Amino acid sequence: MFADRINQLQTFATPCYVYDRSLLAATLEAIRQEVCGHDNYHVHYAIKANANPAVLRQIAAAGFGADCVSGGEIRAALEAGFPPESIFFAGVGKADWEIRLALETGIGMFNVESLEELEVINEIATLLNIRAKVSFRINPDVSAHTHAHITTGRAENKFGIAKEHMVDVIHQAQSMASIDVLGLHFHIGSQLLEMDDFEALCNRINELQLTLGEAGLHVDNINVGGGLGIDYDEPDAHPIPDFQAYFSTFTKHLQLREGQRLHFELGRAVTAQMGTLLTRVLYVKHATEKQFVIVDAGMTELIRPALYGAHHRIDNLSAQADSEVAEGNADARNESVCYDVVGPICESSDVFAKDYSMPETRRGDLLAIRSAGAYGETMASTYNCRSLPDTHII
Ligand code: LLP
Repeated sequence: MFADRINQLQTFATPCYVYDRSLLAATLEAIRQEVCGHDNYHVHYAIKANANPAVLRQIAAAGFGADCVSGGEIRAALEAGFPPESIFFAGVGKADWEIRLALETGIGMFNVESLEELEVINEIATLLNIRAKVSFRINPDVSAHTHAHITTGRAENKFGIAKEHMVDVIHQAQSMASIDVLGLHFHIGSQLLEMDDFEALCNRINELQLTLGEAGLHVDNINVGGGLGIDYDEPDAHPIPDFQAYFSTFTKHLQLREGQRLHFELGRAVTAQMGTLLTRVLYVKHATEKQFVIVDAGMTELIRPALYGAHHRIDNLSAQADSEVAEGNADARNESVCYDVVGPICESSDVFAKDYSMPETRRGDLLAIRSAGAYGETMASTYNCRSLPDTHII
């Protein structure tokens, strides 16, 4: 995807993020195609995945809502042009100032994670004389096939209200002065590629809706969270996730009640593939057991490999360009070499890939660390007094 743009990319100082505007547009359009036949489906982009202002503006302009988990994200959403009523506010630890900001802004929904939080929202809303619209995040106790650090819907996780407490919490909420109970919210994990996991969530929601009915309760909104995964191995083969399979799983398995609205909070699936972390090779170090490609990006720019053992495809753009020019003659870098690709940070976990096969790599080569548009820039840090990465929208 990027090889043909190497001349432009060569001009960028590294490390930096490069976002492909047209792939983002195509991804947003693919989602729109799947939901346009369902007036009651609403997609809220999970801002935590990528909060770059230009990216947010593009997503807001395409008519999506926003899923926020902090006051900072609510501000970023408003600045990007998301309508306040399309903004949902989630998170286990909402601070008082964030609740106040959300109420004064007129957001569409609080996704409430505990009775203790609900009491504080009611108190603040009463003081401000504003009604708070809430959904309850229910922990569905459904396991998902993904990394332990990004599975969220098990009873042992800190998220949500136990499903056994759901009816009681709703009854308590109904007796509070400034609370309107509008829905149920769920999220079982991230980077999920097996539709069976979402089917299991649908089945659990169907059971919980029966429990609600038995208690004489009804909610207008069901929110199934996010979690759809992407292809980190072959981003060029699958630049756009299989939204058809994803949305049709809910259409087929979720039994919505008359008039119920269904909300989705996709993050990674929207922005991961449009982003690349561009980095230059500083040194190729020939050690006793290994050959290290030492690049100028590190876990400070992309922490996913260090934090989750995540794998991102790495393309050597300079080698690809050389091979095209040389067309198979002696200058082409035909030989593959096994490298550890590492960053400059003073941590042993600062490794992008181990035993990774790449064309022969040289100092100055430009590498593309792919599928980095989600949870890349947003998780960057200034550790080692480094600067936050630049971004380019192309
Ligand atoms: N809704 C809720 C309540 C969430 O907690 C999340 C993500 C999402 C929606 C969006 O999930 P997505 O569609 O992006 O899977 N930093 C990790 C991922 C953490 C996800 C946290 N919650 C990573 O780099 O893999």
